[in-house]
Amino acid sequence: MKSIPLSGGIREILSRADELEKQGRSVIHMEIGRPDFDSPECAKKGAIYALESGNVHYTDMSGSFELREAIAEKYRRENHLSVNPVAQVIVTAGAIEALMITFMSVLEPGDEVIIPAPFFPAYADQVALSNGIVRPVQCRIENEFRLKVQDIEKAINEKTKILLINSPNNPTGAVLTREDLEEIARLAIEKDLLVVSDECYEKYLYEGEHISIASLPGMEERTVTIGAASKTWSMTGWRIGWAIVPPEMKKYATKCHQNLTTCGNAFAQAGVAKAFREADGDVKRMIDEDRRRRDLVMSYLNRIEGFEAVTPHGAFYAFPSVKKLGLSPFELSSYLLEEAGVATVPSDVFRSEGFIRIAYCRSYEEIEEGMKRIEAAVAKLRK
Ligand SMILES: Cc1ncc(COP(=O)(O)O)c(C=O)c1O
Repeated sequence: MKSIPLSGGIREILSRADELEKQGRSVIHMEIGRPDFDSPECAKKGAIYALESGNVHYTDMSGSFELREAIAEKYRRENHLSVNPVAQVIVTAGAIEALMITFMSVLEPGDEVIIPAPFFPAYADQVALSNGIVRPVQCRIENEFRLKVQDIEKAINEKTKILLINSPNNPTGAVLTREDLEEIARLAIEKDLLVVSDECYEKYLYEGEHISIASLPGMEERTVTIGAASKTWSMTGWRIGWAIVPPEMKKYATKCHQNLTTCGNAFAQAGVAKAFREADGDVKRMIDEDRRRRDLVMSYLNRIEGFEAVTPHGAFYAFPSVKKLGLSPFELSSYLLEEAGVATVPSDVFRSEGFIRIAYCRSYEEIEEGMKRIEAAVAKLRK
């Protein structure tokens, strides 16, 4: 446990934002990475119906059959994966648990996990809790933050067991192309690596196509595909996610899951099964609105002098370089909070230097106000 950081820049920003709000200052929260839409009506009705009809007990440890069948069917239809709901699917408490049981069940002490940086900070904690070692591989803004296979190759050694990918990406919004994924797949096969593909933002895609790496030849048997209801349908509080694992891994991953949470919440699973069947329209509305928000944020970032940004093609984050402003990301995030009342996240949180993350999962009006304030504060800084 001692190797795991218990605090960092983000907490300081959050507690300062809290303090300012208590003093009556207005703060626009562009640090929080959670969708702001309500969950789909059909999911709520499904959960209420489940509760009222006595669906209040443990489900099968791997998840209710209804939900696992809905998951398998979605991946067959949309992701071109032939998923066996019994042999491969484990329903978890969010994507976070799906990731945790993957690391716990695969890693031996000292095994290494290659993670493209910047990355979602929980990955590093989870690998450390599973006695593994993180090997970050930096992705560059010049390559729109997409992972380069030559860079992964340099990080591989005899201890490397897992290569993690996350597309669409938190915090950069980068989306890997088919060509990127084909190269990554070739390398994973050649070096005999397990690929953990965190696809929890797969629906938040504004351009391009979402491809599950497990659907590429030779990859199904060496990929764990992670998904969740959390971002897909704005259901972060329901705590339902899933892992699709190679069949021989299932009993080990299930053992970890059994000892962490036993099974996903029964009535939440019923609601999520409904969302799989009936909430495509809700997803479309959310993504259309987030595309508008993305375009608004980019219209500011492209004109604010001192920022350099690439257009994020997915997720709901922009990740501009702030190197030209002469402040560290932490200093700049603190300045934006104090001067402009806008909360952002400095990139050291994601193991990368020289950027801030701006989350645009807020209302259009709030984003507009937040970006105006950032523009004015940066102009002041440059005087
Ligand atoms: C990349 C990524 N993976 C996993 C998670 C965890 O998702 P969940 O809320 O489903 O546990 C998050 C949450 O922000 C995330 O950004």
